[in-house]
Amino acid sequence: RSTLFPYTTLFRSSTEGGTMKKILVTGCGGQVGTELVAHLRGLYGDANVMASDFRAQEGHSGPFALLDVRDGKAVAALLDSFKPDTVMHLAGILSARGEERPQQLWETNMGGTYNMLEAARERGCAVFFPSSIAAFGPGTPADHTPQDTIQRPTTIYGVSKVTGELLGEYYHLKYGLDVRGVRFPGLISYEALPGGGTTDYAVHIYYEARARGRYTSYIGAGSFMDMMYMPDALDAVVRLMEADPARLRHRCAFNISAMSFDPEGIAASIRKVLPDFRLDYDVDPVRQAIADSWPNSLDCSAAREEWGFAPRYDLDAMTRDMLARVPGAVSSLTPN
Ligand code: SER
Repeated sequence: RSTLFPYTTLFRSSTEGGTMKKILVTGCGGQVGTELVAHLRGLYGDANVMASDFRAQEGHSGPFALLDVRDGKAVAALLDSFKPDTVMHLAGILSARGEERPQQLWETNMGGTYNMLEAARERGCAVFFPSSIAAFGPGTPADHTPQDTIQRPTTIYGVSKVTGELLGEYYHLKYGLDVRGVRFPGLISYEALPGGGTTDYAVHIYYEARARGRYTSYIGAGSFMDMMYMPDALDAVVRLMEADPARLRHRCAFNISAMSFDPEGIAASIRKVLPDFRLDYDVDPVRQAIADSWPNSLDCSAAREEWGFAPRYDLDAMTRDMLARVPGAVSSLTPN
């Protein structure tokens, strides 16, 4: 399903290692990794994209390595054997699961990021770091959240994301390492399910709408969060990593979002395709509190101006595509 995007050539630059040729992806079994590996292989060739995960993965069309990012020696050894010029460091635990196991989240998300930055520093690899809307907190302006603003998150996941943003900036300032990143909003997709996130409801609702014509939301009415369809997220990663570094005034944490909705809004969109769809609520206080601490809608002007961020899917276009593609089987809701 990978598409060759013309802007990949447009945004190529040879000035600061911005042109990707060999890419390592960590966390390839996750929601983003599953699709990013396939997308990158379509653009750069199967053999030039090494997929890695701490769990064995089936059916890869290119190289795969088992990698636990908490093991710094293993991270360094994989970089030495594959010799990537760019690492997409996706391995990590999401927000709601992190609140159940904060210590484990720190070891994986923070330990893994530190190990990767160190290994990349020693070898001069570019690094993509996925930050999140979770890097904001209750003190952040919730509407049109600026690129540069208050960041006092109240989840361990958010704390790890702010730290990752700062660490990436530091490695760039101190060592000239080419670290870049975005603050992903909730990502919606149908190839692989998210596991343990707060925004997961916006994925589950499509599966349940297709399978049962109804959904019980753990996030309450009126809770707006930023969201994006996966094709736009994949596009954003490639655009940012191929962007001319001379244009980047920011680095590790660009706000990006394609839409903002609450459960009522996504339900209304689904009803345009499935008029009898029913939504009710059984609010989970933990995930609701996390959602309440995150912005309603981000200001993405820096990403647009500095590297041409341009999402194509709005809510209704995404809904039509999701409902055409989800299998509609409840059993498929087990996250991988
Ligand atoms: N989608 C993520 C989560 O809900 C946020 O980055 O945890």
